[in-house]
Amino acid sequence: MVDIHTCTDARDIARKRLPWMVFDYIDGAAGEGAGEQLNRDAIRDIRLQPRVLNNVEHRSLAVELFGKSAGLPFGVSPMGMCNLAAPGADLMLARLAREHTVPVGASTAASTSLENIIAQAEGNAWFQLYFSGNEQSSEALLDRAKAAGYETLVLTVDVPEVGRRPRELRRGFKMPFKIGPAQFIDFAMHPHWSLNALFKGRPALANFGGSYGEFDRTASRAGADWDLLQRLRDKWQGKLVLKGVLSVQDALRIKSMGIDSIQVSSHGGRQLDGALPAITALTNIRAALGGDYPLFFDSGIRSGEDIVKAYAAGANFVFIGRPFLYAIAAAGERGLAQMTDVFSQEASIALAQLGLCDMQSVNSNVIAGHS
Ligand SMILES: Cc1cc2nc3c(=O)[nH]c(=O)nc-3n(C[C@H](O)[C@H](O)[C@H](O)COP(=O)(O)O)c2cc1C
Repeated sequence: MVDIHTCTDARDIARKRLPWMVFDYIDGAAGEGAGEQLNRDAIRDIRLQPRVLNNVEHRSLAVELFGKSAGLPFGVSPMGMCNLAAPGADLMLARLAREHTVPVGASTAASTSLENIIAQAEGNAWFQLYFSGNEQSSEALLDRAKAAGYETLVLTVDVPEVGRRPRELRRGFKMPFKIGPAQFIDFAMHPHWSLNALFKGRPALANFGGSYGEFDRTASRAGADWDLLQRLRDKWQGKLVLKGVLSVQDALRIKSMGIDSIQVSSHGGRQLDGALPAITALTNIRAALGGDYPLFFDSGIRSGEDIVKAYAAGANFVFIGRPFLYAIAAAGERGLAQMTDVFSQEASIALAQLGLCDMQSVNSNVIAGHS
């Protein structure tokens, strides 16, 4: 029995339960981790303006997302190899999406097939594509995603090369695992995780193998360019989201190409240690693109107040990554439900403090000093 009252609780328990190599894969970041820290600091440093006596008895966290109602103002950011946190993690996240009618990102590098994720999520899933450098195999994946029922494609564009993540390198993290003496000791020291992996199956990249070829997580995608984006836009008839954008100039060009939305993100600080904080980029991009264009946000959200702050900075929807994996590693599906409740309660209480009843009414006016 564990109690998760904050994201830090979940992370602390996850750190004890997971093999060091797995924890460092989930928790790690590019370089010294300064960018990851800065993402969180910049959100923390936003000060909100409380208001009183507004009658905030009846509050709603639901928001409109691509013309549908999302039950919560946050969803699950796409993450590769989630089943490393615990067997069945991808499907736990899919059930969370189903229960709250919010999107779960099904990663190209997922440890459960894209077909199984959307089936379990009952349609509440978005497919995330990493351009593989091979346009034919990317197109084959898109055809599969369409056949499986995906209506929204998330193209991740901030990984021309996979960031150098020293904590992974030190642990010898590779997919598939290479088990040398250091990893053997690591697994032996975490028998609960290791026995589970042994009996329930070692996590693997589930969208590949057999006729679908192999996926190299560390392969270069440096050839991706604006022409590729145009071809993808022409091919994909559904909603198209560009994830991993931090520049105003890029955002303006993306908008002008008829892309449906931008997910402002620094990949949780996993790509460029010296990048500006994603929340600052969100503020800049919102100012440049005007109020109507849908902007999503991820990178550094660790509480319900953080979610409210992201909406205040211009987000129309927020995605969360690591905290969900910490919660699953800490206490499985029950931990995930607890973490979701924590975020929901924190966001709802923050709304009450701000004198608001509706997540959709949050805007930059709730930021202290903003006139
Ligand atoms: C373990 C892990 C795996 C990830 N895998 C992917 C991926 O396959 N595709 C992708 O677009 N982003 C991936 N991301 C980035 C997340 O989608 C998201 O941008 C980031 O985690 C958000 O920051 P947060 O963890 O601070 O919430 C991954 C992040 C983590 C922690």
